[in-house]
Amino acid sequence: MPKLLFLNGPNLNLLGKREPEIYGNFSLDELEGTLTSKISKMNCEVSWYQSNAEAELVDKIHASATDGVDFVVINPGAFTHTSIALRDAFLGTSMPFIEVHISNVYSRETFRHKSYLSDVAVGVISGVGIIGYELGAIAALNWLSLKKNN
Ligand code: DQA
Repeated sequence: MPKLLFLNGPNLNLLGKREPEIYGNFSLDELEGTLTSKISKMNCEVSWYQSNAEAELVDKIHASATDGVDFVVINPGAFTHTSIALRDAFLGTSMPFIEVHISNVYSRETFRHKSYLSDVAVGVISGVGIIGYELGAIAALNWLSLKKNN
């Protein structure tokens, strides 16, 4: 059974309270609960991890590679726009991933248009709200099954 890890970066622990006009009213706990029950029905194992610290996210990507995680769906938060370390962690472990943003980063400030991850991601989902995580999981499972059959 494929193993998916949902990774969330800085300030995503504030979902539901943080700028609700941009990020909505769902807390991270609610999102995890709802999505875990939906996605587990797709015949896969799901785990979640959130950290505000870049080093912890890097360590988690390294650990995932040895813990049998097959794919990461990540919302890197503001580290999207700054972190060569996260990019290198994915490249260094060859861990496939999809980058998710709740908001449409391209309709916001120009500093959000730059991502250190997008060009090495399997794909990017931005601006469709929290359903982006679910779409990311569907795309991840599709990518893994195509890879298995090739
Ligand atoms: C975000 C967009 C980022 O620019 C921002 O720093 C976040 C959240 C999103 O989900 O829309 O923290 O990744």
